Amino acid sequence: MNQPVRKAVFPVAGLGTRFLPATKAMPKEMLPVVDRPLIQHVVDEAREAGIEHFIFVTGRNKGVIEDHFDWQFELEMALLERQKHAALEFMSQDLPIPGSTSFTRQQEPLGLGHAVWCARELIGREPFALLLPDVLVQHTPGCLAQMLEAARELDDKVNVVAVEEVPHERVDQYGVVGVGTAKGKTFTITTMVEKPRPERAPSNLILTGRYILQPEILDVLQTQERGAGGEIQLTDAMIQLSHTQNFYGLKFEGRSFDCGSKIGFLAANVSYALGRKDIAPGFRVEIKRILDELNGD
Ligand code: G1P
Repeated sequence: MNQPVRKAVFPVAGLGTRFLPATKAMPKEMLPVVDRPLIQHVVDEAREAGIEHFIFVTGRNKGVIEDHFDWQFELEMALLERQKHAALEFMSQDLPIPGSTSFTRQQEPLGLGHAVWCARELIGREPFALLLPDVLVQHTPGCLAQMLEAARELDDKVNVVAVEEVPHERVDQYGVVGVGTAKGKTFTITTMVEKPRPERAPSNLILTGRYILQPEILDVLQTQERGAGGEIQLTDAMIQLSHTQNFYGLKFEGRSFDCGSKIGFLAANVSYALGRKDIAPGFRVEIKRILDELNGD
């Protein structure tokens, strides 16, 4: 792929009903995994992959996400007065450089395809990355960095999606791909289906929520009809685009967590905490104590 991928889109307009009441007054993307909001983890992944412009598709009651990626004047002054230089330095590392974030709104909940289309003016006519903040992938290098590395080996104007295996009976919760021929670490995608019944799924390889897409997807989305669940589905638009452009799947390295589900979210917290040198030793002791008490030891 010749043209560099400089921009990433983060659809963050979802209501987060699965996490009520936690998400009644707070966006689900701000739920913390250890001490970083979900959205920060995903932005970190994009930054590590070399992304320069971060485009957030927000909705009502999501203003705090915009605030999160800005200076907090009062907090910083308070930290400065208390000589908390390490905390200040730490926070400033997280801040995207001025002018590198954009926010637009998805005014109606019409689905992922519609959310991406809402960002069309900010994306322009260049390839872009799309990262769903519900999904965390724990690995270094991150999932998007692995995808960009793989994309560099492919021809111009290709689309790359991250895929992973799930148990066959769970494919109906995801977009599912059909597997063609191998090319390096990737394979060609023969077909895609959004949330198929297990007996109709082309494989048990699902779309993880990381995409590198060509701008022509925006032209397809412009006239895309509603699909599964009455929503404008990105997967349907990708199927359409796959008639004229190649799509490749990459089985990335790392463990993914579906933080849109409570179990996935809790598992992410445990796994990320155990991955932290400053937290893991004490946390292990606590987990063991809880399990021992539950087991009646
Ligand atoms: C979306 C996509 C689906 C993908 C999934 C990954 O579904 O439409 O293809 O597999 O994200 O999490 P959603 O979770 O929004 O229903």
